[in-house]
Amino acid sequence: MTTAWIPDRSDRSPLMTLDAFTLDAKTAPEARVLDRLIAEAAIPEAVRKAASQRAAGYVRRIRDGSKPGMMEQFLAEYGLSTREGVALMCLAEAMLRVPDAMTIDALIEDKIAPSDWSRHMGHAASPLVNASTWALMLTGRVLDDDAPGMAGVLRGAVRRLGEPVIRTAVSRAMKEMGRQFVLGQTIGKALERAEGMEAKGYTYSYDMLGEAAMTDLDARRYAQSYADAIEVIAGACTKGSVEANPGISIKLSALHPRYEVAKEERVMAELVPVVRDLARAAKRAGMGLNIDAEEQARLVLSLKVIEAVLSDPELAGWDGFGVVVQAYGKRASLVIDWLYGLATRLDRRIMVRLVKGAYWDTEMKLAQVEGLDDFPLFTSKTATDVSYIANAKRLLGYADRIYPQFATHNAHTVAAILEMVGNESFEFQRLHGMGERLHDIVLKDTRGRCRIYAPVGAHRDLLAYLVRRLLENGANSSFVHQIVDEAVKPEEIAADPFDALPTATAPSGLVAPQAIFGGGRINSQGFDLTDEDTLARIEAARAGALPDACPLTRWRRRWSGRAPPACGSTARMTGRRPGGRWRPMAGGPQRPRGAS
Ligand code: FAD
Ligand code: 2OP
Repeated sequence: MTTAWIPDRSDRSPLMTLDAFTLDAKTAPEARVLDRLIAEAAIPEAVRKAASQRAAGYVRRIRDGSKPGMMEQFLAEYGLSTREGVALMCLAEAMLRVPDAMTIDALIEDKIAPSDWSRHMGHAASPLVNASTWALMLTGRVLDDDAPGMAGVLRGAVRRLGEPVIRTAVSRAMKEMGRQFVLGQTIGKALERAEGMEAKGYTYSYDMLGEAAMTDLDARRYAQSYADAIEVIAGACTKGSVEANPGISIKLSALHPRYEVAKEERVMAELVPVVRDLARAAKRAGMGLNIDAEEQARLVLSLKVIEAVLSDPELAGWDGFGVVVQAYGKRASLVIDWLYGLATRLDRRIMVRLVKGAYWDTEMKLAQVEGLDDFPLFTSKTATDVSYIANAKRLLGYADRIYPQFATHNAHTVAAILEMVGNESFEFQRLHGMGERLHDIVLKDTRGRCRIYAPVGAHRDLLAYLVRRLLENGANSSFVHQIVDEAVKPEEIAADPFDALPTATAPSGLVAPQAIFGGGRINSQGFDLTDEDTLARIEAARAGALPDACPLTRWRRRWSGRAPPACGSTARMTGRRPGGRWRPMAGGPQRPRGAS
């Protein structure tokens, strides 16, 4: 029986278009978005109370049960509130981009040496965490100032071994952490290792590691690896339905080197056929294929690709096409409404995986660097939690077209869903290496479904994924971080996020990107070059100047006094007024910056 207070949304217009995804919607004031989400979800007080109670029970059982996993312990030891934790995150993130050994050595010295690793020695119960600490401590000591006595002599000896040894020690420590997150180096090995959890009732979505292809060759390699994986996974699709069979998760950024708004034409012409072929192969295998959610800048472009692929008549009758929605995005509910409309229009049933979102730090920093009017994401953890729960309810209301997949490791979020759900068909999901104990408990109690997202591949391809895990879980506010801290009471961890939202008197603490400098100094105004309206306005403003445009060399000659310019613009675009209008620069041609 469906829970009575969940509104039936099947009467919603299936005609919503992507025009609704305006810049205003992307950067709408947080409070306004939340007010609407909360009002539309209308979750009864009693349900919220029951969710907190249920969640506190889960927290107790998780703590009473087996020891926390290696990841939880590592993060408890090296969270972002410790100097060492921050050094480690910086190092891991930066190592991604460092091309040569010499720079890696300099980086290690910069990030590792000044920290006090010995403080962490022996704290964690896991030998692996302690081994990582040893590696880091050794590295830190080796690079530290000389200390007198025996220790100094020893350190001097290790120093003589050279920095390559240190580099190896650090990458060993990183690898140990990586091992935790990868199910297998090959899809065959991963399937073998999956058998243990499958016997306990879990199923899988395999993720072939790799993202952000830089070249055509990269993109073709990743496409081949997805295609090969689908072929192998097909052999394990014996359960008769996409819900029960294992599936695959793919990232669009892995499949095209210029997966960018500015290259939409190329993306639609070149990427869509690749994804369509993979989807057709997944359909033949009777498995799900899920499109992971990446940066907000690519959201609308990803929806265009999704629409083009799902419109393929060959995919009719297949219920395995999956899309991820990130609850931390202010447009999450729009995406869900749009997907429901699309599925209705095409007469399909699709899968939607609801996540909180894994790119928070990057997105916030980008919005600040670009001086945007507002953030595309919520600025407080509780706001994301509330958005998740409200959008989970939205999905449950669309159960006639959407199979909801609730991906979270947070006991309160899981409990809230269990309190809201009626007889809708749905599943929970977790990442390999995380949330084991919580989902074991829930699976046992509810006899429902749970799918594990399992990265597969070489450790060298893991770093981007690993950094996301470290960043999101290292934060004090994260569930994984709090569960291992016995000082935080179960009731506190399981508190209702609706009661803890930022208010005008207790704001989240993050100021708008324009105001980051403080003291009245306004950040330089940026432009969201991934927003179609903004691009169109720039194009329109440029149009007046284009007929008069001339090569820079002409300007150079003019300013060196050798020849007068034969061209020039009387209306040069200089920026935007606070009101958002373009302003021509008065006074005729101006000297281009940098011209001599
Ligand atoms: P919690 O600790 O409850 O939540 C942590 C999350 O809260 C952070 O990740 C962030 O989203 C949010 N948050 C933290 N601080 C703030 C703040 N100050 N303001 C606003 N929000 C904040 N992520 C993707 O982006 N794309 C994917 O395709 C994707 N696929 C996934 C598949 C599976 C099966 C799972 C389990 C996760 C996936 N994720 C994906 C990761 C997911 O987005 C979450 O980051 C992760 O699961 C942590 O959420 P939680 O509920 O488990 O933990
Ligand atoms: C990520 O790659 C799990 O898709 C998510 O971070």
